Amino acid sequence: MPALTINAERLWESLMTMAQIGATPKGGVCRLALTDEDREARDLFVQWGKDAGCAVDIDQIGNIFLRRAGSEPDLPPVMTGSHLDSQPTGGKFDGVYGVLAGLEVIRTLNDHGYVTRHPIDVAARTNEEGSRFAPAMVASGVFAGEFSLDYGLSRTALNGVTLGQELDRIGYAGERPCGGQAVHRYIEAHIEQGPLLEAEACVIGVVQGIQGQRWFDCSIQGMESHAGTTPLPHRRDALLGACCMVQAVRDAAVAHAPLGRGTEGQFIVQPNSRNVIPGRVDFSIDLRHPEDGPLITMVEAVREAMYRVCAEMGLSGDMHEIWHQPPTPFDSGCIDAVSRAASALGLASMSIVSGAGHDAKYLAQVCPTGMIFIPCKDGISHNEIEDASKADVAAGCNVLLQVLLDQAGSQR
Ligand code: GLV
Ligand code: MN
Ligand code: MN
Repeated sequence: MPALTINAERLWESLMTMAQIGATPKGGVCRLALTDEDREARDLFVQWGKDAGCAVDIDQIGNIFLRRAGSEPDLPPVMTGSHLDSQPTGGKFDGVYGVLAGLEVIRTLNDHGYVTRHPIDVAARTNEEGSRFAPAMVASGVFAGEFSLDYGLSRTALNGVTLGQELDRIGYAGERPCGGQAVHRYIEAHIEQGPLLEAEACVIGVVQGIQGQRWFDCSIQGMESHAGTTPLPHRRDALLGACCMVQAVRDAAVAHAPLGRGTEGQFIVQPNSRNVIPGRVDFSIDLRHPEDGPLITMVEAVREAMYRVCAEMGLSGDMHEIWHQPPTPFDSGCIDAVSRAASALGLASMSIVSGAGHDAKYLAQVCPTGMIFIPCKDGISHNEIEDASKADVAAGCNVLLQVLLDQAGSQR
């Protein structure tokens, strides 16, 4: 019997409709967490869920859950989903693909009158990106019991507003307690956000786990002084020190090539005036590696560089770890289920470790978890030109459909 398949046109149309919310001139989206654009995207997702006959629930940190009931209501849900928020220069697929692929699975089951034993939940989670409120995936972390609700709600944006205040403002502070709930399986579909699938001409990445990631808030302090009159030996230039740290972060990653990663994505220079030597720079450091040992060595190297740079330049520095996400292996049963579904559908697949963080990282702490990757054009993501083909988008969703049916137990 041919496998049940999703409606590829409908999924694509939904993605393109959602991409109009927060659309940017270069074809991407800017839908930062808990902004008006995020609210608009949430409203549309909720409306689509209701149209598909789902029950809608929202928890205290604003995670939205659509539920398609199963034949045995007491069984825990098989869950899928991802996030609707984006980076400032985000694309049309990061996160939203996993959310709308989940919705497309529900629409397909409705079209064909399938009944599953377990309910199927599609989640859209708050602030996965961590761009506006650090750390990333904080709402999944609260769901998994890694962070308290108070910690999540008190995360603060650069302009001083908290996640909880913004949740209230956009009307998405729900009543359901966040987490403490049994989940049978969690399977998340996502674009790869890197070049490996494309290079190997594979349509499906069978994700084995997520690499380790550590985030730091750093600051270097020197002394503001006159750009024209301060002799070179007298300068205590905080920006010069911070630039040496950019090189140190790069060196730490290169020392662990090809897998090490190091990024300083945020830089705030004070007083940011062209004829004042910078007195203070606040910046972020993001270090990643699939294994804990090398990641620890990278962190130590960067800390040592901070002491050295500050000592040599008469500066003072601070490097404060705000987030540690250890490497996270996925459940072997979920990995097998993804691999089996790809083979059954005749799709070329390969094993892959996720370089990006995902909500699945925290879900893996509460239930057996797996992920499905599809390629994205030239491996580019966190960029407005992020792209994926309609065929690959459909293929990943068909794999998701098969895995969810397999895990939820289906009868026609
Ligand atoms: C999430 O987008 C990450 O930075 O990996
Ligand atoms: Mn994402
Ligand atoms: Mn992202």
